[in-house]
Amino acid sequence: RDLFGKQRQNSAGLNLADPLQLQSLQQELEMLAQHRWQAAPLINGQAQSGVKYVSYSPANRKTRLGEVTMADHSAIQAALDSAAAAYGEWRLCPVKKRALYLQQAAELLENHHMELASLCIREGGRSVKDALNEVREAVDFCRYYAAIAEDTFGQPILLPGPAGEQNRLLHYGRGVFACISPWNFPIAIFVGQISAALAAGNTVIAKPAQQTSLTAMFCIQLLHQAGIPTQVLQFLPGEGATIGKILLSDPRIAGVAFTGSTATANLINRQLSSLPAIVALIAETGGQNVMIADSSAHCEQLVQDAIVSAFNSAGQRCSALRVLYLQQDIADKVIAMLTGAMKQLVIGDPNDYAVDIGPVIDQQAVDRLEKHVRARREDAEVLYQINLPACCAAGSFFPPTLIELTSLNQLEEEIFGPILHVIRYREGELQQVIEGVNRCGYGLTLGIQSRIQQTIDRIHRQVKVGNVYVNRNMIGAVVGVQPFGGMGLSGTGPKAGGPSYLQRFSVEQTLTVNS
Ligand code: NAD
Ligand code: ALA
Repeated sequence: RDLFGKQRQNSAGLNLADPLQLQSLQQELEMLAQHRWQAAPLINGQAQSGVKYVSYSPANRKTRLGEVTMADHSAIQAALDSAAAAYGEWRLCPVKKRALYLQQAAELLENHHMELASLCIREGGRSVKDALNEVREAVDFCRYYAAIAEDTFGQPILLPGPAGEQNRLLHYGRGVFACISPWNFPIAIFVGQISAALAAGNTVIAKPAQQTSLTAMFCIQLLHQAGIPTQVLQFLPGEGATIGKILLSDPRIAGVAFTGSTATANLINRQLSSLPAIVALIAETGGQNVMIADSSAHCEQLVQDAIVSAFNSAGQRCSALRVLYLQQDIADKVIAMLTGAMKQLVIGDPNDYAVDIGPVIDQQAVDRLEKHVRARREDAEVLYQINLPACCAAGSFFPPTLIELTSLNQLEEEIFGPILHVIRYREGELQQVIEGVNRCGYGLTLGIQSRIQQTIDRIHRQVKVGNVYVNRNMIGAVVGVQPFGGMGLSGTGPKAGGPSYLQRFSVEQTLTVNS
C-alpha cells in the first residue's frame, strides 16, 4: 500500500529463471541485433532533417547501430513554440486523462521490453539484467506518477474558512519543462523525468544524452503512440551544451528536470539565473558514495553487497559504491575476500546473459578512469585489477579495480566506473569518518554494515545523505519503495519515485470565493 492507502504493484518484468522466457529473450536479442535504428528531432511528431552522426556500440567500436540527426537552432525554436502553445490546453486537461495516457504508455513500454532492452544493451552497454530492470523501472515510474497525480491533483484541496467563504488549493503544471537526462539510465531516467513532468501538467521538451539517443527516440515514439499529444512532448537529440545554450536561455522555459553531473547542473543553474523569472531546477547529480563497515559486520554479506554496489553496471550508477571504510580488525580479511570475489566477475559482451560487467560508455570514460588509476599508483596502492579478456579489445572496457587509499581527500571528484577504494579506520575513529563523509559535500547514497544498532543510528542520524542502506547493497532504488535523490553536491533534493516528487513540477493556486 502506498502513502494514500492504495494498493499498488510494480511491474513483474521477465522471469529469467524460467528457461522458456530466457530462451525467447536470447532469440529476440539475436534477431534485433540486425536492426538499424534512427533518431531525429521530433517536432509535433514530425522527424526533422539536419546534421547526422553514426552511433556505434561501446562493446564493439565497429558495430554500427544507426544514425542520429542533431537538433539545430530552428528545431529548438520550433520545439519551444509548439510546447509553449500546447501548454494552455494541457494545463487544463483533466488529471484523469493525463494519468490514463501514462498508464497506456506503461503498457506499451512493457509490451516492447525486448526491443527496448536490446537497444539499451547495444547502445548503452548495459547488461541484460540491467536493461530489463530499466524497462521495468520506466513502467513503474509511469504508473506511479499517474497514480500520485490522481491522488494529489485530482481534486482541489478544501481548506477551512469563515462562514460564507470557500477556500481551495488547486495545482497546475508550471509550463514548458526541459527534461535533460544522462546516458547511464537511458530508459528509466529518461522516461521517469518526462512522465513526472507530464503527470503534473507540464508540456515537455526532452533532451536525451547524446550517447543514447536511439533508445530515447524509441521511448518517445512509444509515448506518442500511447496517446500523449505530439505537441505536448517534443524531442531534441543532439549535443548538450549546444542545445542547452539556446533552450535554457529562452524565457518560455518554466522548469528544468536535470539528471547528470554536478558540473553540468551548476552550469545550467548559472544559465537559468540570467532569465527574468526564477526557473524551477530539479537537479539529480553525482555522488562520492561510501559504505562504512565495522568489526561486527557479517563479512560474507559485506563483500557480496560491496561487489554488487561497486561493480554492477560497470560502476556507472550515481548510487554506486566508491569508498569502503573498513574497521582495522576486519580489513585484511575483507580485502582478501573482495579480491577473491572480483576474480569471479565475468566481463565481456553485454548481450551475453552470463556477463556481469559490460563496457563503460565510451573511450573518454576509459581514459578518465585510466588517468585516475595512474595517479593513485603514485599516492595510494592499487591492490588488484582484473585482466580484461581478449573479447574486450574491440570495445570501451575498463577492468574492475581495487585501490587502497589513506584518506578520502585523495578523491576530488566523482569516479564514474568500476573502481572500488578502501580506507581503513581504527576503533574510536568513527566520528572522523562520519565528518569526512559530510565534508566531501556529496550526499547521494551511503551503506552501513554493522550489527550494532547504536552504531547504525549514530551514522545515519549524522550523515547528510539522501539514501542510506543498512546491511544490504546500495543500488537499485525501487519506485515507490525507496524514493531516490541526494543533497549537497548530489542534487536539489526531490525524491524520484517518491510521493512528493510531483509537487516540485507544479505550482499552486489558492482560490478564495466569497458567496
Ligand atoms: P552530463 O552532465 O555530462 O550530461 C547529462 C545531460 O546533460 C546530457 O543529456 C547532456 O547532453 C546534457 N548537457 C551537457 N551539457 C549541457 C549544457 N551545458 N546544457 C544543457 N544540457 C547539457 O552527465 P552524464 O555523463 O550524461 O551522466 C553521468 C552523470 O550523471 C554522473 O555524474 C552521475 O552520477 C549522474 N547521475 C545522477 C543520477 C541521480 O539520480 N542523482 C542518476 C544517474 C546519473
Ligand atoms: N536509482 C538508481 C539506483 O538506485 C540510480 O541505483
